[in-house]
Amino acid sequence: METTEGNDTPVLTVVESYEAMSRQAADRVAATVARTPAAAITVPTGETPLGMYRELVDRVERGEVDVSQTHVFCLDEYLDVSPEAEGSLTRWLTRAFIEPARISPDHVHTLPSEAPDAEQAAARYEAEIAALGGLELAVVGLGPNGHIAFNEPGSGPDSRTRVVELTPESRDQSADYWDGKQEIPAKAITIGLGTILTARQIVLIVAGESKADILRRALEEPMTSTVPASWLRLAAERLEVIANQAAASRLRTKGIGVRG
Ligand code: PGA
Repeated sequence: METTEGNDTPVLTVVESYEAMSRQAADRVAATVARTPAAAITVPTGETPLGMYRELVDRVERGEVDVSQTHVFCLDEYLDVSPEAEGSLTRWLTRAFIEPARISPDHVHTLPSEAPDAEQAAARYEAEIAALGGLELAVVGLGPNGHIAFNEPGSGPDSRTRVVELTPESRDQSADYWDGKQEIPAKAITIGLGTILTARQIVLIVAGESKADILRRALEEPMTSTVPASWLRLAAERLEVIANQAAASRLRTKGIGVRG
């Protein structure tokens, strides 16, 4: 494992395999909940975090981790789809993590995907996070187009929880989660990039050669809304990128930005 660390720059942890990335990410979640059992955290859907969830669920079953008090805020949801619906991202997260890890259902904070006044409801979601002391940890994945949650290209670092249009690329990516059997809505509601940036710790998990180029752009090119993930660098030392070697293969430096 290769880790670079400084005082005010992000940490890049490169590990050999997907499994090692998953274990490292699970370690970060475990450390957060050991320190603050009722921490408010947000965690992603998608392919990348599945190994992290398997690892965490195994640890829960072995009695090594207890997430029963943890508050989980959903990162994103399709608009006008109930969080209870089989084809919702919330159900996906429930199956992969919330139920098997025995997180209390009343500690799961779903996005107001069906609210008549989405703007007001999104502001309430932000207030719920604040009322629990803010996000202790945000684990996020990297979209092939550089999105974080559903903060699509064009999203700025001040963006808050809101309704967004999905790009065709993200809709295709999402369709794969359901084996193409489900029509993906054109809009979604997402936690904002600015909201994620308030978290006390941010962990970006990235695996696979297919993410190597977008990870390089996110970490080594100037920060830009064209690649929303690049704004995560504003979190400086609060950001840790955990990548496997395939995903890190195009990075010029082993440190992020200025560190070598
Ligand atoms: P993936 O999605 O893990 O399925 O590649 C990442 C993301 O879009 O957040």
